Amino acid sequence: MQVDVRQGRVETEVAEALVLTHCEGEVLSKHDASLDRTLGGTLRELVRSKEFEGKANEVVLLHSQGKIPAKRVVLVGLGKKKDLGLDQIRQAMGHAAKRVRQAKACSFTAILPTVMPRSASAVEVAQAMAEGAILGSYQFTVYRSEKSGTKYVSTMTLLTSQKGQLRQLAEGIRRGVATAEATVLVRDLCNHPSNVMTPTKMANEAKAIARETGVSLKILEQREMEDLGMGALLGVAKGSHESPKFIILKYHGSKKKDDPPVVLVGKTITFDSGGISLKPAENMEQMKADMTGGAEVLAAMRAVARLRLPVNLFSILPAAENMPGSRAMRPGDIVRTLSGKTVEVQNTDAEGRLILSDGLSYATQFKPAALIDVATLTGACVVALGQFAIGMLGTDAKLKESLRKAGLRAGERVWEMPLWDEYFEQLRSDVADMRNIGGRGGGMITAAVFLSKFVGDCPWVHLDIASTDWSERERAYIPKGPTGIGTRLLIQYLIDRVL
Ligand code: BES
Ligand code: ZN
Ligand code: ZN
Repeated sequence: MQVDVRQGRVETEVAEALVLTHCEGEVLSKHDASLDRTLGGTLRELVRSKEFEGKANEVVLLHSQGKIPAKRVVLVGLGKKKDLGLDQIRQAMGHAAKRVRQAKACSFTAILPTVMPRSASAVEVAQAMAEGAILGSYQFTVYRSEKSGTKYVSTMTLLTSQKGQLRQLAEGIRRGVATAEATVLVRDLCNHPSNVMTPTKMANEAKAIARETGVSLKILEQREMEDLGMGALLGVAKGSHESPKFIILKYHGSKKKDDPPVVLVGKTITFDSGGISLKPAENMEQMKADMTGGAEVLAAMRAVARLRLPVNLFSILPAAENMPGSRAMRPGDIVRTLSGKTVEVQNTDAEGRLILSDGLSYATQFKPAALIDVATLTGACVVALGQFAIGMLGTDAKLKESLRKAGLRAGERVWEMPLWDEYFEQLRSDVADMRNIGGRGGGMITAAVFLSKFVGDCPWVHLDIASTDWSERERAYIPKGPTGIGTRLLIQYLIDRVL
């Protein structure tokens, strides 16, 4: 979707649809009231009769019948003024974009909300509007033969009456388009089935992004992983015919090339059958999205490079498929990780922490200013947090606080769980340095404590996105299926860090 900004007046705007937002229980603003007079009082009547109250998720479309140059007016609710935040704006624009598409229109003009969320800048509001419209319009139709029913809204214009706001709004749009398109990329990569989205395909996606943005790319093949001693990643990959890939992208945006980088590591299991510890059949198809973490660090890399953020950023994707097979890892097998530590694999379905252990060890050589891993790691995360919070555990209080704030701003919130070393008791093995499962209780925590043994003394945070990566229902700007949640959190963290 193309998003731009223009200074102008609602009454003279030529558009297929004009989108106006309205808070619950408020009277029409000065601007809306003057538009309403031109329209012959319809807006006031809708509000007065409570056919439109301004509640969140409420949308009404009316035809202007030639009274103004814009063909249609779409009213969307923002909910109560006291609860107004950036996410209410994102949601309203998500609903608006869908309504415009239903009306078979392919472009619209959105008016800046007359009430602004407290402590939000014009940049942030414009960013949220672009995000809501782009993310709300998302559809995945690659594998549908019948494409005639799928319409696309191709353009949104933000309209402001104040010339002085134009630059800020344009900057917000620039950020919003980059972050939303990153989420769209993640959703696409996750929607592709695992017979297409293999580790090799992920490597090719990384190549395409490196070519587009000019970031540097290195892909380690199986032989090189063997030479380095990545026994944990190789152990997971052994049961599959798909060759594993270890993908490293580097972007140097800092003034100083040797500034310590932020390093992102994303779990990239292109299908998680569980391996020999096979998963039950129910919902197993959702495990095609077990590469969400990898897709997110890849997409964040593309967004940061597109925005030319002044930061050094590295993204690492350990990629493999977890399958049962005659060469597959068995429960009880012991692998030697890149760090030299040995792990007894008591459950082959706890494969994410295995590939991440090698990914994180590899990352420590860069002496990161911040090390963040993102992973659909545990079912326990889903049990603990449900679908509205990302699990966060880590060693660095400042990094955790920055991620918490970025999450609030992005509408992709994190919730902290304890990372106490007492939990390591559950990971002790009789025969190796540790085992890969922690038994009953605190599954999200023991998984993170396992990872903590591979990060050295780097400031590190682990994000468990198993709770949020897949949505059971469609929401304002979140589709049913892969959500891409976590992507905008990462990019917002990087924006906040340097802009
Ligand atoms: N990919 C799964 C975790 C998962 C579950 C993600 C549900 C999204 C939704 C992970 O590899 C896994 O299977 N974890 C096991 C670990 C257990 C064997 C210790 C789990 O959580 O059941
Ligand atoms: Zn698993
Ligand atoms: Zn998994």
